[in-house]
Amino acid sequence: MNPLLQLKHVRKEIGRKTIIHDLSLEVFAGEVFGLLGPNGAGKTTTIRMIVGLMGITSGEVLINGISIARDFEKAIQHVGAIVENPEMYKFLTGYQNLIHYARMTTGVTEERIDEVVQLVGLEHRIHDKVKTYSLGMRQRLGLAQALLHRPSLLILDEPTNGLDPAGIREIRDYLRKLAREEGLAIIVSSHLLTEMEMMCDRFAIIQHGKLVTIESVQELSKQIEKVLFTVEPVEKALQLIQTRYPHINITHTDQGIEIPLDYKEIPNLTAALVDGQINIYGIQVLAKSLEERFLEMTGGNEIV
Ligand SMILES: Nc1ncnc2c1ncn2[C@@H]1O[C@H](COP(=O)(O)OP(=O)(O)O)[C@@H](O)[C@H]1O
Ligand SMILES: [Mg+2]
Repeated sequence: MNPLLQLKHVRKEIGRKTIIHDLSLEVFAGEVFGLLGPNGAGKTTTIRMIVGLMGITSGEVLINGISIARDFEKAIQHVGAIVENPEMYKFLTGYQNLIHYARMTTGVTEERIDEVVQLVGLEHRIHDKVKTYSLGMRQRLGLAQALLHRPSLLILDEPTNGLDPAGIREIRDYLRKLAREEGLAIIVSSHLLTEMEMMCDRFAIIQHGKLVTIESVQELSKQIEKVLFTVEPVEKALQLIQTRYPHINITHTDQGIEIPLDYKEIPNLTAALVDGQINIYGIQVLAKSLEERFLEMTGGNEIV
């Protein structure tokens, strides 16, 4: 599969300061990809370069295989983006705003407007004035606008900023739906680790304009430390487990038996315990928290 977005050794200098150092990454159709970093890390700068709002000092940005330096018009037609707060006319209805925007874009039909309104779930309020919208609804209207011309790559800079938990959840669900059902590649930036974990399939950690690592959320959640089995009788279970895994270091606490175990082994051991006529009252995965992993990855000196 070809990436929808490719950054190749992208570098940005402003004056004598290097803001982005040698940034390379790829984003594919159907995934939500995060840019995670504290304020000032370079997320907005990276996004501004991708959408052509800012020049690139060196390196290359390819959208759907097309270099933005070589053929900007052609490359950018695949992109929908909300970089700064979307410009909306508050005294017009949501629908009138979309019509206005559609007139500036070629090939957007009224059917397409209805379609995106449905997609972002604004059908019941679209004929109300934007000034009556909640922040979350305005974000969704912005999203509808960004989606009008059927982009294959959607880029949103801190889309959940200023939203309440319900609004955050709404946006998160829409983005996941867009990636899954419409096959879009989506890039979102955030300074919040937990948000990335809930919203993204993969995310890049950026610090001081440098790429620290790219992580897959699914892989991260599988990095198990230990599994806690609450069982009876304990002695019999200990014997069975030790015989089964002679080289593993098992600990026995008040909570139960803690075993460092591979994810795939959990069902096997569970079956063996049941076969051994041991009663299982609980199985708990004591995974390393993403936060612990994050501190490891970033050298433990800066929590986002
Ligand atoms: N136009 C500019 N001129 C000089 N420095 C800038 C400019 N834009 C951004 N910066 C600097 O670049 C760094 C990254 O900023 P930014 O991309 O906005 O970070 P983020 O979006 O991750 O918070 C910051 O140190 C910021 O001060
Ligand atoms: Mg920013």
